[in-house]
Amino acid sequence: MPDVSVDPSGQFLTLTLPNGSHRFHAIWLRDNAQDPETRSTGNGQKRITLGAIPSDIVIDDANITDDGKLTIRFLPEAKNVSFDPVWLSQNSYDRQGTNTRGWLNPDVQLWDAKSMPAAPCADYTELKCGSAELGKWLGDIVRYGFAKIENSPAEPGALFGIVDLFGHVRETNYGRHFEVRTEINPTNLAFTGLGLQAHTDNPYRDPVPTVQVLHCLESSAAGGENMVVDGFAAALRLKDENPEWFDLLADYCARFEYSGEKGVVLTSRRPMIELAPDGELIAVRFNNRSCAAITDVPFEKMADYYAAYRRLGEIIDDEAMEVTFRLEPGEAFVVNNSRVLHARKAYSGHGTRWLQGCYADMDGVRSTYHAIQRTFSNEAAE
Ligand code: FE2
Repeated sequence: MPDVSVDPSGQFLTLTLPNGSHRFHAIWLRDNAQDPETRSTGNGQKRITLGAIPSDIVIDDANITDDGKLTIRFLPEAKNVSFDPVWLSQNSYDRQGTNTRGWLNPDVQLWDAKSMPAAPCADYTELKCGSAELGKWLGDIVRYGFAKIENSPAEPGALFGIVDLFGHVRETNYGRHFEVRTEINPTNLAFTGLGLQAHTDNPYRDPVPTVQVLHCLESSAAGGENMVVDGFAAALRLKDENPEWFDLLADYCARFEYSGEKGVVLTSRRPMIELAPDGELIAVRFNNRSCAAITDVPFEKMADYYAAYRRLGEIIDDEAMEVTFRLEPGEAFVVNNSRVLHARKAYSGHGTRWLQGCYADMDGVRSTYHAIQRTFSNEAAE
């Protein structure tokens, strides 16, 4: 049975549950009240602003009722609100803050060549039919930042069917999708037979597209394997080797630009290693081809910044970091473009290699993944 005690100040209470004690402030509890006056029963959205809650709010009384709920009386509103202790336990914030720069969301699992012997993969037909299989595959993208798909139609436009599994296409100046194949007069290095250094796409966009889908239609040329690198693992390896270099790439913005076609000048000013204000590692941007002049690093630090940039590139190029696979016609991969870098090995130019690519966003991946998870946990609870 839960237990509750209110601090004499009325500013907070302590809820004791089997998993420990959790303190909650009066203002936090009132703001998170689940009653229909505070929060819509339909869509769950909040119906009041913070300004509607008195700034001198205190807890007058709190107790555990017979149905196991925590019931609180707030003053000066004289308002009673009930909470599910399980919900409070799941949303507890009473823990030590972390000062670690580069900490990871618990959903994220780092990988390298050794720990990831093969790319996570699922069958397109099964993904279309079963939400359990789709949930597992989306979970792989959330966890590892990429996953393959096989047995999709080897037809132009089939990549849109893959995006339909989890979200919406992000249209750009390249169109709803782009073609990747050999061209005699390339305007972009991706259209030649040269190998490419692992990179994230479009760092010059703001916001950057956070998902890329590449779908293979033809692949008779030798070579041209696809390769991915965990940018979070690379950034944290740099931090292990030299924390000051990690800080330089996180604390100062690089600049990126693309102006390769008429009427387009895309620019952005963002760090190569992006941390949330509390230090969580949230994004990596690395693209040698679209790096513009970096002008936001102080003169005294620029030489070290370049040493850090060079070392991050060396780590990314290290074969111990990469997972390689070959896309056959009807196969595709989906990559979290704010975390995982992708590249293509050189290919011979004899025969053909034709892929179609498009962009989408990770919020769709996470939304569909969490919706499937919630459905399964609700069914399990029924
Ligand atoms: Fe790319």
